[in-house]
Amino acid sequence: MDIHKTDDSVVRRIQALVSRYDYLNQNDLYFYNQPISELRGGARVLVNGREMGMYASYSYLGLIGHPRINAAAKAAVDQFGTGTNGVRTLAGSLTLHEQLEETIAEFKQAEAAITYTSGYVTNMTVISTLMGRGDWVISDKLNHASIVDGCLMSGAEFRRFRHNDMQELEKRLEQAPAEAAKLVVADAVFSMDGDVVDFPRVVEICRKYNAWLMIDEAHSLGLLGKTGRGIEEHFGMEGSVDIKMGTLSKTIPSVGGYVAGKKDLITYLRHTSRAYIFSAALPPAQVAAANEAFKVILDEPWRIEKLRQNADLFITGLKSAGFDTLLTSTAIVPVLCGSDERAFALTRTAQHNDVFVLPVVSPAVPEGLARLRATVTAAHEPEEIKRAMSVIEKAGKEIGII
Ligand SMILES: Cc1ncc(COP(=O)(O)O)c(C=O)c1O
Repeated sequence: MDIHKTDDSVVRRIQALVSRYDYLNQNDLYFYNQPISELRGGARVLVNGREMGMYASYSYLGLIGHPRINAAAKAAVDQFGTGTNGVRTLAGSLTLHEQLEETIAEFKQAEAAITYTSGYVTNMTVISTLMGRGDWVISDKLNHASIVDGCLMSGAEFRRFRHNDMQELEKRLEQAPAEAAKLVVADAVFSMDGDVVDFPRVVEICRKYNAWLMIDEAHSLGLLGKTGRGIEEHFGMEGSVDIKMGTLSKTIPSVGGYVAGKKDLITYLRHTSRAYIFSAALPPAQVAAANEAFKVILDEPWRIEKLRQNADLFITGLKSAGFDTLLTSTAIVPVLCGSDERAFALTRTAQHNDVFVLPVVSPAVPEGLARLRATVTAAHEPEEIKRAMSVIEKAGKEIGII
């Protein structure tokens, strides 16, 4: 241990993490942070000199490297360079930023949109800007960490409800004082389980209790709805969400986050949210790439259909092999393993057989629910997916998971 401090709780915390890290490394069970040196088509990557099938991607529609998107990014660099002159409010706003926000507003069928430099920051800043002391913010237990952090930072009364349990959501709202401002937040597709929020009920309950509704579409943009517009299109309930949040780092192969909604809401956020006012603008290449990606989604609807077919194939195959994949119906497929060690072992065998998947273990998921968080994309071919499934199945049997 190379920390020259007297023993205190910080030292002990670091020591605990580092000794677990060392143990996993020494036993060939550590698979995080591996550098990818090459993309080989949409569904294969070169990792440590090995070509592997990619089953850990967020690029659900397979848009990373799309020629139109790459060309847009290059043109933006030629026109604007690689950075901006500062924060948006002062000297950092480009015509490109305005174009992207118009594109997002149109895509999300909203009056206006605002962008930030990451999805994480978007949730943190938007929730903590809108909500404050005396307000109530109510969040699904499986919501993303950035939502939890935004709720904590807001200083509002923070309550959680059991995952997708609408009775408990209603109970929480009943507990809130009638005069308090209330915000309900949920992922549209849950990032670790792949299941879809009970949207019709959430909308109904929010209306009943006069609560604002914020939905995080990080994993539903491009996946749900006939044209990939997300949760409202999926349920045919356009206009139901007050704060439509999403990221530009998953289906959209760039970086950043956005909120779309009513004009007044966006004007308010543009002048009060600290991550907008006190942090530099998104760089030109990433803005242009994101803008083009929304257009590609509309121009190439086959990607959405292919993704759905691939997801169905993957889920059905893993289930019939005997794996528990929880309630997923999307491209995010949890392959439950039980203990963290089993999840690490399944990962090791899969990667040794050129299937690039990664484990999610405690505390990211509850103890005993460690899993592979496997994904398919529109870039996979069915034959590749079948091969990956047979590797996972064989390894699952050897390790005793199935
Ligand atoms: C549901 C959800 N919201 C927000 C984020 C944060 O987005 P970003 O990675 O673009 O910062 C993530 C990222 O994993 C996510 O899964």
